[in-house]
Amino acid sequence: MTTKFPKDFLWGASTSAYQVEGAWADDGKGPSVQDVKEIPAGTTDFKVAADHYHKYEEDVKLFKELGLKAYRFSISWSRVMPNGVVNPAGIAFYKKLIQLLIDNDIQPIVTVFHFDLPVWIAEKGGWENRETIQDFADYCQVLFNHFGQDVPLWQTINEQNVMALAGSVIGTSQKSMKEKFQENHHMLVAQALVTKQFHEGNYKGKIGPAPNIASVYPASDKPEDQMAALYMSALRNWLFLDVAVYGKYNHNAWHLLEKIGAAPEITEEDYAILAAGTCDYIALNYYNTMTVSSYYQKENKIDQQSGFGIPGFFQTAENKNLPMTEFGWPIDPKGFRFTLNEIYSRYRLPLLITENGIGAKDVLTKDGKVHDQYRIDYLEQHIAQMGLAIEDGVEIIGYCPWSAIDLISTHEGITKRYGFIYVNRTETDLLDLARYKKDSFYWYQKVIADNGLGE
Ligand code: BG6
Repeated sequence: MTTKFPKDFLWGASTSAYQVEGAWADDGKGPSVQDVKEIPAGTTDFKVAADHYHKYEEDVKLFKELGLKAYRFSISWSRVMPNGVVNPAGIAFYKKLIQLLIDNDIQPIVTVFHFDLPVWIAEKGGWENRETIQDFADYCQVLFNHFGQDVPLWQTINEQNVMALAGSVIGTSQKSMKEKFQENHHMLVAQALVTKQFHEGNYKGKIGPAPNIASVYPASDKPEDQMAALYMSALRNWLFLDVAVYGKYNHNAWHLLEKIGAAPEITEEDYAILAAGTCDYIALNYYNTMTVSSYYQKENKIDQQSGFGIPGFFQTAENKNLPMTEFGWPIDPKGFRFTLNEIYSRYRLPLLITENGIGAKDVLTKDGKVHDQYRIDYLEQHIAQMGLAIEDGVEIIGYCPWSAIDLISTHEGITKRYGFIYVNRTETDLLDLARYKKDSFYWYQKVIADNGLGE
């Protein structure tokens, strides 16, 4: 147990616009790719979600009661610019939300893009079209103009690495590796351009990327498995962070992309933008580590956490040392400490954890309780390991578990819940959408009040 957290540590919680807001077509909002994608059978769509758009005042009141020092959320591009033109009602919603958070001493932490590309951008080619770089920069400039002085921590793109490597799972892309890594390159350039814009605007805050980072273990002590882990980590982790921090592609990732014929076309101007728009800090989402062996053909399941194989380089292996969540994701709190150390020793920038949590089938009892001891256990173990990482010397500025309140999972509906606050609805029935505090709510409230887990 530890109380090694700095005095001003940002104990927070996280959500994303399309998964929590609902109001998918209200007040001039345009559709995003998440509103029009094919929804897996038996799971809800995102039209109402947790109805946070209409209930944000009640929700912020609960966040205050929870004791949150920070709330990490995303802004919906298609609410703010439904057709390339600013929607005043969209701006007004986020202005009210941000002001309410500030009035309640909750620091707003904003991600500008979290999986919900506007349909009007997707229709002209999405990220494969270079024009999207400028569209994104224009959208971000609108956000900086309105909120640049009020938001101290910005993230450019949520889990760009997951969109590149598992876009078909989360419903953001269905393309070939070559096309995906060209899209990915445009996103990296867009991120750098926006970072540069932010720095030139002299706003008070800091800006950084928010990839999903997971250390990669070799499946055995065989040298070829070590090399497989090195390559998986280069493709999954360092490609994204090396560009964000150093403005350069990681050499192993680049070699792999060339070998599989997926290296993107890069212009001279792109290199200059990448070098000029490097980040101030690193936000990261952590759910679990990964384990790989050298490639030996086998059917490989694609999932945003478990990954896949690349012939000649690596393939995902099962790690028998780790327990699983009921949705089949490994649980690895020690891997969290390892991952934080690995990132910090490579980049030496402050880290902000923007997601970490357990998806579970929570049950609301007749007397309005949710006994989610498994969530308390999961979070407690991760917080303890984060404390040890701080003792190791890693600079960590905050922890925002996923999620502040129940919301719709990327592809497993509302049945897979993550929140401290239960939202009363099912996949098929909206019921009354009432909010209930789970056991984990009271537990996290105490963690925040004690600034850690106590000695
Ligand atoms: C991250 C995303 O991949 O993990 C979130 O940033 C997502 O949007 C979370 O909800 C949990 O994943 P899932 O698939 O269980 O919703």
